[in-house]
Amino acid sequence: LLLNFVLAESALELVPEGMRRSPAVVADAKRRGKEPSMILLDRSFHHSAMERLEEGEKRGRPDLVHQALLSVTCTPLYLDGKVRVFVQTCAGLTLELEKRTRIPKNYIRFRGLMEKVLMERPGGGLVKVFSASMKELVRRTVSPDEVFGLSVRGERMKPEALASAVVAARNPCVLVGGFPHGHFSKETSATIDRLIRIEERPLEAHVVAARVVYEVEKASDVTND
Ligand SMILES: C[S@@+](CC[C@H](N)C(=O)[O-])C[C@H]1O[C@@H](n2cnc3c(N)ncnc32)[C@H](O)[C@@H]1O
Repeated sequence: LLLNFVLAESALELVPEGMRRSPAVVADAKRRGKEPSMILLDRSFHHSAMERLEEGEKRGRPDLVHQALLSVTCTPLYLDGKVRVFVQTCAGLTLELEKRTRIPKNYIRFRGLMEKVLMERPGGGLVKVFSASMKELVRRTVSPDEVFGLSVRGERMKPEALASAVVAARNPCVLVGGFPHGHFSKETSATIDRLIRIEERPLEAHVVAARVVYEVEKASDVTND
């Protein structure tokens, strides 16, 4: 089994061009000794500057992306090299982790790594960055036989049942939203074959990610034994 895990429309990006002169951004960049173009957009520090940002409620939460990535990359399934992780960002870039790559557990270090790769956009190595629409990423790069999108708006399914369907696929892909509020865009929705709700309540992305990976781990153990 190889599970393709996509954190979709993730709230991870460098401060966009139109916001780089905002006082909150300038002050934060100065405090960190960096240029405004070199720092991650972060609602904790740039809230006032984000008021008029398009789709602002979905953006500026790199902490949430960090949590979700740790939830996936610390699991036995990932450590066994059976999860391929993509972080597709709201700004149209995709980060792909080389199999088994560990990401910094410390947020400050994670932020530094993300700022570096988003600026340099390496074409290879432990974290590869490339520009692709959601459709291109899913259909061309991942090329799955079935895409499972996780959302409170989906059909109710127990996580165990979802995992059985995932392991039954030849090249499954799971999409979890890497944003704090809102829902998948039309473009993302168009790539999804089955939209699944694993709980009545809306949950944090890191909880959903951890549950899905754990259930797939259990289901694939049964299949492999
Ligand atoms: C914080 S939520 C985004 C908020 C949004 N209202 C929602 O729950 O879909 C982040 C992501 O976690 C996943 N998620 C959250 N609650 C879920 C649920 N009950 N069932 C399935 N996926 C869920 C979705 O992929 C969602 O995009």
